[in-house]
Amino acid sequence: MQFFLDTAEIQEIQTGLDWGMVDGVTTNPSLIAKSGRPYLPTVQAIAKLVPGPVSGEVLATEYNEILTQGRRLSGLAENVVVKVPLTPAGLRAVATFKKEGIRTNVTLCFSAAQALLAAKAGAAYISPFIGRLDDVGEEGMELVDQVVTIYHNYGFDTKVLVASVRSPIHIIQAASLGADVATLPFKVLEQLYKHPLTDVGLDRFLADWKKTGKNFEES
Ligand code: E4P
Repeated sequence: MQFFLDTAEIQEIQTGLDWGMVDGVTTNPSLIAKSGRPYLPTVQAIAKLVPGPVSGEVLATEYNEILTQGRRLSGLAENVVVKVPLTPAGLRAVATFKKEGIRTNVTLCFSAAQALLAAKAGAAYISPFIGRLDDVGEEGMELVDQVVTIYHNYGFDTKVLVASVRSPIHIIQAASLGADVATLPFKVLEQLYKHPLTDVGLDRFLADWKKTGKNFEES
């Protein structure tokens, strides 16, 4: 399973890269707005830093404007993936981008029917929004299950990118279902490392050795 970081914060991305756990990055307009940085330069800076795919989202809703913005985003760097909303105009643009060799990530997917359409349009990634479905009393992970099954049934190339992740449980469930990618807030990446028994065990090992009064090299 690939891990993308769901952030526009350069420091978080650098830390995740240093840890060797970041295969790519997803941004969205809300995340870039929160960073307080300008739109295109932020996507470009992230794409320079990260060797893997970096999703930059169009701010347009109309077909021709989506094409213009998507081409601009794609021209920023070879690893930029154009994030397009799941609308008729968006999926029409996805098919056009596919013919131009521009990879797309279809965002704001909340149903298996939508995911099927995105695959038929030729999306490189589909982003089911798990946490937001959970928030409205639905079972987000059921959607991942359905999409993984449907894509497998028909051999679609579109990768399932689990988005709107809120906790490590989402990652474990998505991995169990065979999702290709999960995009994580930095906080969730940190949480994945944590177990209280790891902390307790490490403290005990170090304390036991300290009691001997010897250092690392001494026998
Ligand atoms: C990723 O591509 C999405 O933009 C992101 O995961 C949305 O997450 P949120 O529901 O926490 O805003």
